[in-house]
Amino acid sequence: MIKVSNIRKSFKDNVVLKDISFNVNKGEVVVIIGPSGSGKSTLLRCLNFLEKADGGKIEIGDVAVDVKQANRAAVSKLRMQTSMVFQHYNLFKNKTALENVTHPLVVAKKMKKDDAKQMGRDLLKQVGILEKENQYPISLSGGQQQRVGIARALAVNPYAILFDEPTSSLDPEWVGEVLRVISGIANKQKTMIIVTHEMNFAREIADKVIFMADGVIVEQGTPKEIFDHPTMERTKQFLKDFHRQTEVHHEFYGENTKAMLM
Ligand SMILES: Nc1ncnc2c1ncn2[C@@H]1O[C@H](COP(=O)(O)OP(=O)(O)OP(=O)(O)O)[C@@H](O)[C@H]1O
Ligand SMILES: [Mg+2]
Repeated sequence: MIKVSNIRKSFKDNVVLKDISFNVNKGEVVVIIGPSGSGKSTLLRCLNFLEKADGGKIEIGDVAVDVKQANRAAVSKLRMQTSMVFQHYNLFKNKTALENVTHPLVVAKKMKKDDAKQMGRDLLKQVGILEKENQYPISLSGGQQQRVGIARALAVNPYAILFDEPTSSLDPEWVGEVLRVISGIANKQKTMIIVTHEMNFAREIADKVIFMADGVIVEQGTPKEIFDHPTMERTKQFLKDFHRQTEVHHEFYGENTKAMLM
């Protein structure tokens, strides 16, 4: 399981994560929602030490690290337990789709090039873009680039995949295909933590929803509990604001965009 205990993080005097604790069971999908600036990305980045927290403990699978005492070996072991899918894909622009996926296999897993290629092709097939294997990111749509990003994250077979708003840079027409790929992975019992503003998707895919605001977990529960019966005022307000924004967008752009946004 993933066990996050008492994670704290400040940037100078800006306290961003106050005392974050939560668990994710093996095979579970946890979705984190919350207003902009509430610390969602910082939390994900602390889990794999892209950002070093100021204190707390992180346990992922069989690797446990006390943030303050972590040495380099422990950090690198913990990093191997997760891979991240970013909002802006972060693909290597000078590598083909296939090379982007095989890169971590050759570099981190020390796999032979031919074996890596075979595995890379299987993964591209799994995300539905095998026919694009020799194309460079610039010639792929946003949705295709993000699917390469997901294949790359799967390649090292991590204990868990961390998604930071995987669809929010995409044109609405590409959102659906990426969400479908993520659902497909969830169905295979992969442990995942997903930060997203796609509320309908969150409701469908999540085993547990965590609502964060101002650096704390305000409330967590099943999608039904959080979306239909929130108990905290802060959660109710967030959901109300979200629905109002969606309605305004709907009035402005018409019926079709509502389905895409929700
Ligand atoms: N590298 C950094 N240096 C200084 N401050 C930072 C850094 N990264 C994040 N912050 C600050 O931490 C706070 C939380 O940011 P974070 O990106 O984690 O929020 P978020 O919940 O992911 O927001 P969004 O929904 O807009 O992505 C913000 O006040 C932000 O300005
Ligand atoms: Mg963010």
